[in-house]
Amino acid sequence: MTFDSPHSEPDPESATDLHVAVIMDGNGRWATNRGWPRLVGHRKGAERVREMTAACPSLGIRYLTLYAFSTENWKRSTEEVLGLMSLFARYIKREAGRMNREGVRLRFIGDRSRLDRKLRDLCDWVEAETAQNTRVFLSVAINYGGRDEIARATRALARDVAEGTLSPEDVTDGVISRYLDTSFLPDPDLVVRTSGETRVSNFLLWQAAYSEYVFTPVLWPDFTPETMQTILASFKARERRFGGVVT
Ligand code: FPP
Repeated sequence: MTFDSPHSEPDPESATDLHVAVIMDGNGRWATNRGWPRLVGHRKGAERVREMTAACPSLGIRYLTLYAFSTENWKRSTEEVLGLMSLFARYIKREAGRMNREGVRLRFIGDRSRLDRKLRDLCDWVEAETAQNTRVFLSVAINYGGRDEIARATRALARDVAEGTLSPEDVTDGVISRYLDTSFLPDPDLVVRTSGETRVSNFLLWQAAYSEYVFTPVLWPDFTPETMQTILASFKARERRFGGVVT
């Protein structure tokens, strides 16, 4: 299998519509280990995002959801926060054309209201610009936290109940899913966390109820499509029962 051609057809052996979500961790350590500023690690991480997105069709991944900035990440230094925000803006501007050529639809999840106006406008722009694409659905979580998302969804749901457009008896788990930022996505099949940490860190708390988890020691800036391929092979060997029994 090769990963350099975004237009290569999916390998029929592995072709599926997988939803893989990734907690991209270890950028800071990757840079610090080399005596470089943390932002260098984030820049390398952005290159990996581009490579991974291009490799999705060959890997059988239709939906790729990436944790880029959590509601807790504001606690980092101003330099790092601003550096990450300008990295996101540059990525959107530089990659929009490539995403259209590769059939990638980019959307954002998380609370945009805290982002600066220019970045918010860019997010809206690239979502509209790539809206016609259906080959890969890339979702990037910025200012995202699972609990915050559930709180925002609950407020919206409560407003609809108060206005009488939703009855409390009609609130099912399917209805709740439709109020979440991920209403346009299936639940993830697999959640991968890089860099050896074994925490969920407030990522897709509701959506990952039945997802498989893989924790790998590889730091995100070293994570290649080949690393993902190895992880997918072990994931596919697992048996998913969704709370049922083997028949
Ligand atoms: C966690 O590593 C990583 C982040 C908080 C930022 C992730 C951002 C990118 C990969 C950049 C580009 C993303 C897009 C979508 C263009 P860390 O800094 O916490 O690493 P550490 O645990 O080693 O300090």
